[in-house]
Amino acid sequence: MKPILPGTPWLIAHKSMLGVNKPNKITLNGKDYVIWQNVKGEVFALNNICPHMQAPLSNGWICEERNTIVCPFHALQFDGKGRYQDGKLNNQPLAESLGLQVIGDYIWTYGGFEPKQEIPELHQKIALEYEFLGIAGEKSIQGDFLSNLLINYDFNHQNGTHRDLFQIVANKVTASEKQGYTLKVQQESTRANNSFKEILGNPVLMTIPKILKTTVEYIFPSTIVLYGKAAFGNFVQVISLYPEAEEKTKVFEVVFTQFQYPFMKSLFKKSMLKAIDTVVEQDTTAIENLYPKQQPKIKLPNEDILHYAEQLYRNW
Ligand code: FES
Ligand SMILES: [Fe+2]
Repeated sequence: MKPILPGTPWLIAHKSMLGVNKPNKITLNGKDYVIWQNVKGEVFALNNICPHMQAPLSNGWICEERNTIVCPFHALQFDGKGRYQDGKLNNQPLAESLGLQVIGDYIWTYGGFEPKQEIPELHQKIALEYEFLGIAGEKSIQGDFLSNLLINYDFNHQNGTHRDLFQIVANKVTASEKQGYTLKVQQESTRANNSFKEILGNPVLMTIPKILKTTVEYIFPSTIVLYGKAAFGNFVQVISLYPEAEEKTKVFEVVFTQFQYPFMKSLFKKSMLKAIDTVVEQDTTAIENLYPKQQPKIKLPNEDILHYAEQLYRNW
């Protein structure tokens, strides 16, 4: 495939997603990689194709003592640099490694391309300021990168796509600023009154004010950060997107909170992460059911940000 937005630093995982000594498969711009983390928290990634007879290394296992990935086909071992470990020293890499930049718990990669953008500092700033809650909404969505990107810049889809969850009836952008690849938007979403049954099924609703004020910070194209305020305290959703293939996009959210009281974390953790799963599920349904893109014949207010992002994409 033709690589999408080459030179972008992609946030491909948070360390908590990888487990320890467990091979994980990731796909970026049409290429598969195996990625693993050892007990020390060091992370390695190799081209997933075994240089012997092309088995997928991610189906193999990790040899803890030697810090190698073992191929599932003939059990040959490769270290984090892709060197075949046959007991000899100084051998050359046979499996291609994927360059990673690990900053705190975030794992970034340029996917082998010349960097065109710096790795954002915002992610680490949030990690230092807030408490990590968990990962939510991890999905491979059938749909091109642009559609998946734009739904996150679309301030009018709350009323349709997400009506079931929060029953947002009105959505208003109160301020917005753009500067190159970064954008900041403030919005106010008004909810309908939820029934008792709905609240029981989703206790988070109880904590969300009738008019929810959120700030969204965009770092085109990899990241969308949503800051919100609920009755229990503040929350931040760091939404990460990357192109797996032409028609497949990966999304996951790293969620942070500042609870007013520590006991609230255990009380709300599950339902908060579940609510985000639902939101992503709803976006997925919307994207996966779209007909091929055409020139829109209707324009709604607050769509300029969406068009701005589309332009950044086309002029990359
Ligand atoms: S295919 Fe991997 S060891 Fe043979
Ligand atoms: Fe959405």
